[in-house]
Amino acid sequence: MTAPQRSFLSPVAWLFVGYLLAVILFGAWVRISHSGDGCGANWPSCHGELLPSDPATSTRIEFTHRVTSALCGVFGVLLVGWSWRLHGRGPVTTAAGLTLLFIVLEGAIGAGLVLGELTGDNDSAARAVVIALHLGNTLALTAFAALTAWRSSRPMSFGFLPRRRAAFAAGLALFVVTAMTGAVTALGDTLFPQAVSDGGRLVARVLDGVSAGNHFLVRLRALHPAVAILAAVLLCLLLRPELRRNRWARATVGLVAGSVAIGAVNVALGAPGWVQLVHLAAAQATWIALILTCASLGPLGYDTGARPRR
Ligand code: HEM
Repeated sequence: MTAPQRSFLSPVAWLFVGYLLAVILFGAWVRISHSGDGCGANWPSCHGELLPSDPATSTRIEFTHRVTSALCGVFGVLLVGWSWRLHGRGPVTTAAGLTLLFIVLEGAIGAGLVLGELTGDNDSAARAVVIALHLGNTLALTAFAALTAWRSSRPMSFGFLPRRRAAFAAGLALFVVTAMTGAVTALGDTLFPQAVSDGGRLVARVLDGVSAGNHFLVRLRALHPAVAILAAVLLCLLLRPELRRNRWARATVGLVAGSVAIGAVNVALGAPGWVQLVHLAAAQATWIALILTCASLGPLGYDTGARPRR
């Protein structure tokens, strides 16, 4: 294998991470635009057709989500093949393989949403659970895709074993729970939109929904900000000792602060679609930075970011 071949895989894998993020944001647009039932309760066909003829806007949106996510699968297979050819059996190919596995799982969960009619105006607990899983699984996707990209330019031993391992595991788990509760809150915002004219102070606004008479999706709105603040505090404490030496740790802390700020703006403005998308993009970027922080705190000490000598 030649050095240029190796170094070419990494930028292409980063492009793939960017594409994944675009598909994820478009998926959120499917929910925000109430287009989840745009192909009816059919999968893999769309209203019984392979290619929808004379599609409505919601059909175009849902069908686009299906096509772009199917392309993720194609790119995922190519990434595994390329990693295998360049790196053989090892961490890079494993990370690429896991990316592909979670793409397939993501598609299966998406199909479950459609076939179970957990779309449109459906406000059941089942929809909340499945949409949280659909979003939770995206974290596995972006984590392994980013690890593929990052490690393919650093063909050294793969360390995902930070010191203070239990504390980091708790931080990662709390982040996943934060993202999944965020998906439930976002579903509540879509099905039970809050008029900005409702007014009220930020905290009062969040707590207002908790009253017993409300739908469970409105009552659960307060859960996400509470878990998110807990996660933000824990991550900042956890990463504090690493800040001076590790640029990914600095990026994570900055992105955590940005995500909390955008979350507050989201509540203040009554969760308009574009702020939801910015909030989701910030959350995914934070997650990727956190994963790369963990990967750079391996058992062999710090990966300083310098390229290895060939
Ligand atoms: C790489 C594959 C995929 C990714 C990354 C992805 C990502 C997403 C994301 C992030 C959301 C928004 C979640 C939220 O708002 O909290 C979403 C929504 C949705 N996805 Fe996917 N998705 C994928 C594949 C699929 C497939 C194959 C289908 C269907 C066959 C599908 C059907 C849906 C539907 C129906 C919604 C909207 C659900 C609703 O109305 O609440 N997805 N997707």
